Amino acid sequence: MTTTEQALKERIKELTCLYEVSSIIGNANVELINDTLKAIVLSLKKAFQYPDKTDVIIDWEDISIFTNEFIKDDLTIHSDINIFNHTKGELIVHLNTTDSNEINFLKEEQLLLDNVALKVGNFLERIEIQKNETSLKRQMEHTDRLSILGEITAGIAHELNTPLANILGFAELLKSDLAVDEKAVKDLDKIIDNAIFSREVVKKLMFFACEMPQKMKHINLVPHLKNAVKLLDATFKKEQVKHSVKIKEEELWLRADPIQITQIIFNLLINAIYFSPKEGTIIIEAFKKKKNIIIKISDEGKGFTADELKKVFQPFFTTKPIGDGSGLGLSVVHGIVASHKGTITAENNIKNGATFTITLPKD
Ligand SMILES: Nc1ncnc2c1ncn2[C@@H]1O[C@H](COP(=O)(O)OP(=O)(O)O)[C@@H](O)[C@H]1O
Ligand SMILES: [Mg+2]
Repeated sequence: MTTTEQALKERIKELTCLYEVSSIIGNANVELINDTLKAIVLSLKKAFQYPDKTDVIIDWEDISIFTNEFIKDDLTIHSDINIFNHTKGELIVHLNTTDSNEINFLKEEQLLLDNVALKVGNFLERIEIQKNETSLKRQMEHTDRLSILGEITAGIAHELNTPLANILGFAELLKSDLAVDEKAVKDLDKIIDNAIFSREVVKKLMFFACEMPQKMKHINLVPHLKNAVKLLDATFKKEQVKHSVKIKEEELWLRADPIQITQIIFNLLINAIYFSPKEGTIIIEAFKKKKNIIIKISDEGKGFTADELKKVFQPFFTTKPIGDGSGLGLSVVHGIVASHKGTITAENNIKNGATFTITLPKD
């Protein structure tokens, strides 16, 4: 073969490869990224002068896709894979030869490699964008649902507030009118107790919907957090649950309503204690991270099922037996955190228990 003919043949192989890579990427299934990358390395291998002696690898994050597992790397060329202008991986070609004088890479082969690396980078970029969009969409849908629930709940709470106050007021009146009638007074006490209980539920609902007046102050979180934990000392003892407060800083300043902060910690700890096994430990942490203050509460309880994780912050969601829970605690916490412009997340931890993470903006 003449050298021109040879060169032409190589050029055709390269163009075929570029065309192949484009169509592999065009038809790629985002769920099967590895398969796509595998097809690309195989296509590249064919495009080189000595396909039998050539092996191709794509290294990307912690993934490695190759044409051959046992590579003798005598001669190599490579090209960076950039994703959003950052080098996130590498495309490497090995030529397996003992005599580098006899055969070597062509200049065009490096160009081909650069070209394919660019295409792979664009492809991985597209996948990243798609992934982010899906998770953002999911998050927004979730937040939307919670805020709609918040509005509905606020409406119900308002409607119930006045009649409940009336029931309480008139029951108290009747009680003083019928003071001599022991049985009537006993019945009235039951009415009053139940009305008070309902009023508490309404109050919690209003908290969830952020309908309670807020008193924002410049506060040091540390003593407030420790106090909230201390308030539950007796409960910890009674339930035989241990706890450990891990705060390195003496001061963590933020703008917050101190009563509401106490309420957050309280609600989370009461749940954590409830789900803790005997002698289990609850860890309470607080620290600074960039512009935020993070509070973490972890237990060694049962953690969450996937379904529970989706629903824990919804009002009235509870897995506790009737009488034990109203399903309002976490929705109240969510409402308070949101009104402080913070976020709260729930997840399972390595001890199979639950971890709640609150992020609040630092002052
Ligand atoms: N620490 C935790 N471990 C496991 N599950 C939890 C934990 N905290 C909350 N949950 C789940 O979230 C549900 C809702 O909690 P919450 O809103 O406080 O209402 P309640 O405590 O009245 O059930 C609980 O019933 C439980 O299923
Ligand atoms: Mg609760």
